[in-house]
This record gives sequence, structure tokens and C-alpha cells, in this order.
Amino acid sequence: MSRHQHQQFLYALLAVVSVLVLSVKGDGTVVDEHLITCPEFTPPTILNVTELEGVWYGASRSPAHKFACVEMKVALTKNDTMVKITTSHAALNSTLLNTVKEATVDVLDLTNSNGFTVLYNLTNEKPTTYKIMGIDANKKYVVMCGYTSPDTADASFGLIMTSDRIPDKKWLEGIKDEVSKHFFNFAKDSVVDIQQSDKCASSAEIAVPVLSTILGVVYSVLRFMQ
Ligand SMILES: *[C@@H]1O[C@H](CO)[C@@H](O)[C@H](O)[C@H]1NC(C)=O
Ligand SMILES: *[C@@H]1O[C@H](CO)[C@@H](O)[C@H](O)[C@H]1NC(C)=O
Ligand SMILES: *[C@@H]1O[C@H](CO)[C@@H](O)[C@H](O)[C@H]1NC(C)=O
Ligand SMILES: *[C@@H]1O[C@H](CO)[C@@H](O)[C@H](O)[C@H]1NC(C)=O
Repeated sequence: MSRHQHQQFLYALLAVVSVLVLSVKGDGTVVDEHLITCPEFTPPTILNVTELEGVWYGASRSPAHKFACVEMKVALTKNDTMVKITTSHAALNSTLLNTVKEATVDVLDLTNSNGFTVLYNLTNEKPTTYKIMGIDANKKYVVMCGYTSPDTADASFGLIMTSDRIPDKKWLEGIKDEVSKHFFNFAKDSVVDIQQSDKCASSAEIAVPVLSTILGVVYSVLRFMQ
């Protein structure tokens, strides 16, 4: 566990909170609830990359993800100078991981103030700028955002990845709640839980769609949005 990195995240949050406090007028009314957009966000300059290593599961995204069963493996390679990101996903309402793609990023780029570029090894894939907004000290979740064009904030996305494929719902709501207060990309009406199921698999024989799990997610999202 990295106290240092945790502190960095707290400092970033404190900076955001003080901006919000400054925007509160004497009578207590908020005049400018400015939510930080992804292009505006400056990632922490210190990152313990081993905290990022492992497998992360897509939990929530804004706007809604086009895929189900999203998972991302992060591994250090090239004598710990590079990070290999292997992402797999299924089609919506399915549990068959039918796409596997990989990208390599220089470890030094992960703390670049302008974000780092992820270009997956698929044709038609656009380079996407990512920023790590925070890693939970207990390695339970990562908050990220990204965009393909910095000039259109609307085209950016927010993403919460968790170390459990199916995280506790209440716990996840708490994280979404917290980030929605500070970051443009996590506005409450736009964050949608990513379809996950314990049946998500790369082998066709066990990848029978389990609609009960997936529909459970859709149902809770609909309730959430009411
Ligand atoms: C980085 O994180 C790993 C795993 O949590 C931990 O073992 C290591 O001590 C940390 N390194 C630093 C420099 O904080
Ligand atoms: C790997 O990195 C370590 C520490 O930076 C260095 O001492 C070692 O020579 C490197 N090994 C190779 C094969 O580059
Ligand atoms: C997924 O299932 C839902 C609920 O049955 C349905 O409304 C939606 O159209 C389906 N989406 C796709 C891409 O099949
Ligand atoms: C991209 O990388 C994945 C994971 O290593 C691999 O399975 C796939 O074949 C690669 N795709 C292409 C088009 O090279």
C-alpha cells in the first residue's frame, strides 16, 4: 500500500474541494459549481505503478459502455519500463469475451500532465487519451477518464474500474456519489453500470448469456435514474 500515492490523491481532492469552497458565496449559495472536465484534470505526478498491476473490471461508465464483461489486465513489461494493457469485452447482453485487444504505454507517460495515449492493436481503433484520476489505497477501485479529442468535453468519458467483477452495489453507489461531486464526467444521470456477470468467459461452451444477472444491472440502473 502506498501512503504517498494515497496522499497525492487526497491532495488532488483537497485542491478540488478548495476550489468548490471558494466558489461558495458568503450567504452559502453556490455560484459556480464547476465540475472538472477530463481535459482540465491534472493527474497526480506520483503513481505507484505496481498498484495498477493486476486485473480490473469495468464497473461504471459515463456515457454507457457499448460492451459487457469489460476487463483490463495491467502488467509491467520490458524490465518495468512499459505497461501492457490487455482489454477484453463481450457484446452487450452477452457473456462471451469475443474481443481481446492490447496496448503498450511507457510507465513514465502514466503521470504525464496531459494524460497518456492508449492505442489498441485493432484496426479502426482511435488513439485515446486516458488520465488516472485516482487509485484507491486498498486497490479496490480506480477512477479514470479519457477522450479522443480534448476540444470536445462532451466526447470524453469517465470510467470506474473495480478489483471485483461484481462489486457491492451500495459501495459502488458511494464511489459514484463522491466522484460526481467533483468531476464533469461522472454526472449522476449519465453514469451507467457496466454489464458484468460471473458467467463472463472467453470460452464459447460456458458463455451462455445469463440474462438474470445482466438484467439485474439494467433494472438497477433504471431505478437509479428515476
Ligand atoms: C507500491 O505498491 C506496492 C503494492 O501495493 C507496495 O508493495 C510498494 O511498497 C509500493 N512502493 C512504494 C514506493 O510506495
Ligand atoms: C533492469 O532495470 C534495472 C534497474 O533499473 C537495471 O539495473 C538492469 O540493468 C535492467 N536490466 C536490463 C536487462 O535492462
Ligand atoms: C439488451 O437487452 C435489453 C433488455 O432485454 C434490450 O432492451 C436491449 O435492446 C439489448 N441490447 C442489445 C444490444 O442487444
Ligand atoms: C491484439 O492483441 C491481442 C492480445 O494479445 C491478440 O490476442 C490479438 O490477436 C491482437 N490482434 C491483432 C489484430 O494483432
